[in-house]
Amino acid sequence: MRVLSGIQPSGRLHIGNYFGMMRSMIGWQERSELFCFIVNLHALTTVTDGRTLAANTLEAAADFLALGLDPGKAIFWVQGDVPEHCELTWILHNHTSMGLLERSHSFKDKAARRETPHHGLFSYPVLMAADILLYQADLVPVGKDQKQHLEMTRDIAGAFNHAYGGPVFTLPEAAIDPGLATVPGIDGQKMSKSYGNAIDIFITKAELRKRVMGIVTDARAVEDVKDPDSCNLFAIARLFLDEEGERGLRERYLRPGLKYGEVKKELVERVWDFFAPYRERREALLGRPDDIRDILAAGARKARAVASVTMEIVRDKTGLRY
Ligand code: ADP
Ligand code: TRP
Repeated sequence: MRVLSGIQPSGRLHIGNYFGMMRSMIGWQERSELFCFIVNLHALTTVTDGRTLAANTLEAAADFLALGLDPGKAIFWVQGDVPEHCELTWILHNHTSMGLLERSHSFKDKAARRETPHHGLFSYPVLMAADILLYQADLVPVGKDQKQHLEMTRDIAGAFNHAYGGPVFTLPEAAIDPGLATVPGIDGQKMSKSYGNAIDIFITKAELRKRVMGIVTDARAVEDVKDPDSCNLFAIARLFLDEEGERGLRERYLRPGLKYGEVKKELVERVWDFFAPYRERREALLGRPDDIRDILAAGARKARAVASVTMEIVRDKTGLRY
């Protein structure tokens, strides 16, 4: 089975990315043919500073490698290093209805945050469909917010297959962890690199403390009973607890006397310890950026070999080969 997913280097990776996607992704390398890539072309929709994008790309690669992604087991590369992604995108544009893109929640959401939304944002799901279809992926592990993008990918694949009278593309399935709700940011909205509300995976302890202390909670007094199910802090804290730990915290919420400040202090320590083993590995990797580049270049060669098999078929079917 082929499993594939990507992440944007549009900022530093955060715990929402980790629990929503990276952790399960890395697990797949043990039991599937895993394709994992950094989608720098997608990040161009929001990052317009070249140096920032380049630095974020290397850092995202270091994050994945430090967290356990093994380039000996998975194909790991940077999207922009494989030109077939763009070629297939153009071809798929012609099988993507305007209405489909107009219904995109993520486009509406992003457009509402900008003065003038550009075409890259509108066409974003087509590039994502190309990413997936190019490798004939069966399964795409993503967070809940990407569900509609996967549905769009299936629609586009179906339209292409129908137009050319044959099953050229595999229709992929989204793999969404049913037990995981979208991780809220410190302000209670979805945690996102671009909303300024994230708790990054790799930050200094002082930064971590500042972020965690800034998690917005309700105004209930210490002596009041609290509601774990509507509390951001609880939603974040439970990620770092086992079942028993979560039950214990829930009970403390339901008894008078809980101080949010105490839960926050405990959370700082938990997050810090949770990522401790990976922190050193990441520092070492970032000290050898050329090694990271070599790993990515080797990954791009492997990815390209797979992508070109699909493109041969697509060029044949569409008449681009004459
Ligand atoms: P961001 O919104 O931070 O830019 P991306 O859109 O690059 O994140 O998402 C990368 C992956 O992480 C996707 O699979 C997405 O579903 C997942 N993800 C992002 N934010 C969250 C979150 N807050 N909770 C759970 N999963 C998330
Ligand atoms: N749109 C995805 C996100 O924001 C990133 C992405 C791009 C992706 N191409 C992909 C995810 C292909 C899975 C498969 O998270």
